[in-house]
Amino acid sequence: MPGRRSFEKYHCMLALTVQPGLANSLQLDTVPPPPASDGAVLVRALALGICGTDREIINGDYGWAPPGAQRLILGHESLGRVESAPAGCGFTAGDLVAGIVRRPDPVPCPACAAGEWDMCRNGQYTERGIKQRNGYGSEQFRVEPDFLIKLDPALDTLGVLLEPTSVVAKAWEQIERIGSRAAAWQPRVALVTGAGPVGLLAAFLGLQRGLDVHLYDHNADGPKPILARSLGATYHAKPPKDLSPDIVIECTGADAVVLDVLGIGGSDSIVCLTGVSSGGRSINFDVGSLNRDIVLENRVVFGSVNANRRHYRAAAEALAKADQTWLGGLITRRVPLSRWHEAFDKKDGDIKVVLDFNA
Ligand code: BGC
Repeated sequence: MPGRRSFEKYHCMLALTVQPGLANSLQLDTVPPPPASDGAVLVRALALGICGTDREIINGDYGWAPPGAQRLILGHESLGRVESAPAGCGFTAGDLVAGIVRRPDPVPCPACAAGEWDMCRNGQYTERGIKQRNGYGSEQFRVEPDFLIKLDPALDTLGVLLEPTSVVAKAWEQIERIGSRAAAWQPRVALVTGAGPVGLLAAFLGLQRGLDVHLYDHNADGPKPILARSLGATYHAKPPKDLSPDIVIECTGADAVVLDVLGIGGSDSIVCLTGVSSGGRSINFDVGSLNRDIVLENRVVFGSVNANRRHYRAAAEALAKADQTWLGGLITRRVPLSRWHEAFDKKDGDIKVVLDFNA
């Protein structure tokens, strides 16, 4: 039926969809083209990064479909090329771009009203590919110009690292803001726990700041120690003793590691937690001594999630200055869309797995 085929060709696209709350419902679907209400800029997908949040959604433990829908288009670590954009919106066909994940809540709360949706106060924010908004895991997607970031064309497919980099750019900004509470704060040593993409990118931003960066991860071999050392960080396959870091960025979310980092910093130290734990397990420990040390040493422990436009821009600048060979080493597997299910199987040595929409 030729009419039917051309209808499909011009009016449908492939998208990875899930039914949030239902385990293993991920499938490659044929869906209608992105609606104009998603934004004025039409983007052709090049790549999609996969992260732990996607796996949680696939397991049925996280994620929300758009209102009135049963399924959600997955994907929040985007990369694409602009196909069409309204004149004067700041984007033109051919631009290399990535979309911002979060949208402000509709109220809006004071943080969202100020453009700091990453600090949303009422929890009514939405997130593409995660919470009540279709994501970027489709052959084409649309984005509002204000929620699209232009990337240095030289980054090419490495631009898919923008979203995880934005998350650590925010963490570093917040650490520096907290650090400025003390007139003479001069951090020297930073510890990052977990050498996944977020940990390695956090270490990368720490080294860009001229700090002595230590990275702890239980993997003694494979690409992680190599990437950490080639970056200039000191790699530890066992929890480092006697380090007394000024800054800790925790990127594992693992109970034992989180507990360890709460007590590891020295005076005036700042511990930033970025890993989302699953919860449900309990550990016996001495809250009183931890509290005493935190109070007597002016320590700060805080959590950081998501990123706003300022952080995406900082991340785009940091990536443009990075050694591209090193960045390329973070992407350990590129899986063509036709073999999408392989991208979601965890394999030894994986750091960042990327779905390739061009292959
Ligand atoms: C994303 C964030 C998001 C968070 C919570 C993370 O994987 O990188 O942008 O805010 O999940 O949904």
